[in-house]
Amino acid sequence: MIIVPGPSSQKLGRRIAELMRAGVVPVEFKRFPDGESYIRFDGTVEGADVAIVQTTSPPQDESLIQLFLMADNAKDLKARTVTAVIPYLAYARQDKRFRPGEAFSIKTVMKLLGACGVDRIITVNSHNPSILKAFAIPVEDLSAIPLLAEHFRGQGFKGAFSLSLGKKALDVVVQANDVLQGGYGYVSTRRDRVTGEVAIEAKPLPIKDNDVIIFDDIISSGGTMVKAVEWAKEQRARRVYAACVHPLLIGDAQQRILEGGADGIVSTDCVPSPVSVVSVAQLIADALAR
Ligand code: R5P
Repeated sequence: MIIVPGPSSQKLGRRIAELMRAGVVPVEFKRFPDGESYIRFDGTVEGADVAIVQTTSPPQDESLIQLFLMADNAKDLKARTVTAVIPYLAYARQDKRFRPGEAFSIKTVMKLLGACGVDRIITVNSHNPSILKAFAIPVEDLSAIPLLAEHFRGQGFKGAFSLSLGKKALDVVVQANDVLQGGYGYVSTRRDRVTGEVAIEAKPLPIKDNDVIIFDDIISSGGTMVKAVEWAKEQRARRVYAACVHPLLIGDAQQRILEGGADGIVSTDCVPSPVSVVSVAQLIADALAR
């Protein structure tokens, strides 16, 4: 297998290649003065099974275009198969038409990946893995939640309460609780589709005087996490940490979460950020080797 570390996942791509002892084809990339992307493979992919590692966190449109260019290029240059490793899959939250007339964005993205010759996708904690099964390309959705939980266990948080945001994400805290074993539960979140305002609807949970780790797939504006942290603090939780797989951390999200009372934020390197301390490289290398 040959690994192509895309412009948005240089470090993670190279780490995966090291772990797999796989060859690397570096990518020369630049942005033209008008904003268009340029891509060139500095090596051959002919006849190889190629894994392109390219997260699609902001600037997501540019990252996606680069991914389309790399996948199509690999196929043109006679790669045998092309796997797109997309640690953070952009547009996954627009997984249906919530309001009449809206674009079903993830469907369009999947269609374009197929048209560019992608044979398989590996992603991590995609927002709605079940919707991905509806599309033509096989998708493997990995979970980094046990890795995040193991990080906290290693920091002395065994016995902390695992809290998820929304009943649908309960499986996330079941996975976390397997590691932390301090009990789990959820608070419901409701987002106003027009204003984007988030409200918490919660029943009491046994978190008073307990450490609480709040797990979410994505922290984007931080609005959801801030509300959850504030709620946990109101319930007199001891230490409260925010854990997420994809730290988009738009604007002052990190600061707002800390000001809301969080004792820290811990994330994975699916998206490079100052809090991406847990690596998914081995998780992805294992999936690619299967
Ligand atoms: C929502 O369904 C997701 O799981 C996250 O809670 C959400 O995307 C976070 O967005 P924000 O940080 O903007 O509140």
